[in-house]
Amino acid sequence: MTIPNEFRALVVRETRDNQFVRSIEQKKIADLPDGDVVVQVLYTSLNYKDVLSATGNRGVTRNYPHTPGIDAAGIVVDSATEAFKPGDEVIVTSYDLGMNTAGGFGQYIRVPAGWVVAKPKGLAAFEAMIYGTAGFTAALSVWNMIENGVAPEDGAVLVSGATGGVGGIAVSILAKLGYSVTAVNGVVDETDYLKRIGAQNVISIQDANDTSGRPLLKSLWAGGIDTVGGDILATTIKSTHYGATVTCCGNVASADLPLNVYPFILRGVRLIGIDSQNCPMPIRQKIWQKIASEWKIDWLQTITTEASFDQLNDKIDRMLQGKHVGRTIIKMAD
Ligand SMILES: NC(=O)c1ccc[n+]([C@@H]2O[C@H](COP(=O)([O-])OP(=O)(O)OC[C@H]3O[C@@H](n4cnc5c(N)ncnc54)[C@H](OP(=O)(O)O)[C@@H]3O)[C@@H](O)[C@H]2O)c1
Repeated sequence: MTIPNEFRALVVRETRDNQFVRSIEQKKIADLPDGDVVVQVLYTSLNYKDVLSATGNRGVTRNYPHTPGIDAAGIVVDSATEAFKPGDEVIVTSYDLGMNTAGGFGQYIRVPAGWVVAKPKGLAAFEAMIYGTAGFTAALSVWNMIENGVAPEDGAVLVSGATGGVGGIAVSILAKLGYSVTAVNGVVDETDYLKRIGAQNVISIQDANDTSGRPLLKSLWAGGIDTVGGDILATTIKSTHYGATVTCCGNVASADLPLNVYPFILRGVRLIGIDSQNCPMPIRQKIWQKIASEWKIDWLQTITTEASFDQLNDKIDRMLQGKHVGRTIIKMAD
């Protein structure tokens, strides 16, 4: 396969007065970090973590200049390992991609072979990026909830941050699997959208956040998929049925968890932490297979906006301003 001398990448640079500026620059393959596999990125997606990386958050990216993008789907163009050969269609998400390793906001990436997943049949590169890290995390959350025994007939499942990427895909997968889903809205009322993607009921952030301080609340949920943390996660844990499972993957509301032990010792509630970044490869492959087959959402387009590489900067700004709904996919090839 032909590898171009130069390609385009979004580069974030730190100025002398500690501002972070973004622009599309020309790069060479030699500029990429060491690795086994060079991938031409066909599509990438926009995640909250990318916005943090693109705006100088040192918790995500230590050193600048840097190219963010924690998700990439594309074609192998060069490989130093027998596990992959030029022409293979692959997905690369998680690990260090886009954090301290130049990521999917460049038209080419070079990564260790251990980060690369062969794209399952039944999922186009574009569709793989509709899921991306957000969809993978949603599916991993649902899988953990199911593995811990929550079945559709047990009752309703609460999903927080449902207007966002992780929450929205979790709502959709759960609905496809026959669960009754109650979705927590965002700041703007998106009830119609949430019902379109599979929520049976929609509640407001205020309704999902109990301020009484009581250690246990009325038992409402058979399970919970939390993407926001803080008071909403604490309220969810206090409001579950006996033996319910709640997963926790995010902290957009807060990293704190104001709670005591009563839901755990009186109701046997299970709180399962979700980490997509270092999820072991066998589980990772299993989850991608499910995404590509029996868990594939029939209404993927409903949650998706496609944008060109040149629109990426603007899309980052929109997510920063809280004007982003669902999933944004960026077409990287010229
Ligand atoms: N553990 C992992 O492996 C993993 C992987 C991926 C993502 N994450 C984390 O998961 C979280 C969600 O990611 P995402 O990509 O889905 O983000 P996103 O698309 O920006 O969605 C965030 C959602 O949270 C809602 N929200 C924001 N602030 C809130 C608040 N104060 N109270 C209640 N809801 C609030 C938003 O509502 P609006 O409609 O009002 O904006 C939106 O629905 C992030 O913390 C991200 O870092 C973790």
